[in-house]
Amino acid sequence: MVRAFTDEPVPAELVDGLVDLARRAPSAGKSQALDVVVLDRPDQVDTYWATTMTPAVRARFRWRGLLTAPVLMIIVTRPDAYVERYAESDKARPGLGEHTDAWAVPYWFVDAGASIEHVLLGAVDVGLGACEFGLFDHEPAVRARFGIPEDRRLVATIALGWPDPDRDEPARSSSRPRRSLDEIVHRGGWDSAHLDH
Ligand SMILES: Cc1cc2nc3c(=O)[nH]c(=O)nc-3n(C[C@H](O)[C@H](O)[C@H](O)COP(=O)(O)O)c2cc1C
Repeated sequence: MVRAFTDEPVPAELVDGLVDLARRAPSAGKSQALDVVVLDRPDQVDTYWATTMTPAVRARFRWRGLLTAPVLMIIVTRPDAYVERYAESDKARPGLGEHTDAWAVPYWFVDAGASIEHVLLGAVDVGLGACEFGLFDHEPAVRARFGIPEDRRLVATIALGWPDPDRDEPARSSSRPRRSLDEIVHRGGWDSAHLDH
């Protein structure tokens, strides 16, 4: 993640290219429930921060460089699109076409995550920096402020721009060691007791 950006604008074609990558992520049943709200004007970006931070919080916000990102992308999904898709005749699995509660794994969030990763990787490919961050309890306020329909979930926001390494500061989470390959891989089963099965 990059958390400090120069004030240089990002050409619209690059932003469009990243949205195009987002829509090419896999989705269960090709439900394609993704929408992307692009904020690429200073006043729009300012409105986002004003909606999610009080002036006092903003004034002492540690990641100053994040606030200068010229582009914010709000990644939006529509859970009901999956219910509708899985009610179609080629899917029709018990329950999945009736209610989101029947889904053991909420694939609308999984698939939105894949779209987010496409944007993050695509940004690096063209030399841009990006930071994904959660909306947490700001979801209703951001939804209302930008007119996003009630049936949508706001999965995350991505800040985008040209990296400014001199001003960047790692987040507290960044210093956590990455779990090793050996720690996460379970070959043939979870542990040795299951290897013979
Ligand atoms: C769902 C989600 C929410 C995140 N929220 C924040 C956030 O609020 N602020 C922030 O600075 N970084 C946020 N991050 C970025 C993580 O802190 C970052 O990915 C992690 O520290 C690893 O750093 P790296 O991606 O640079 O390797 C978030 C990442 C994810 C996936």
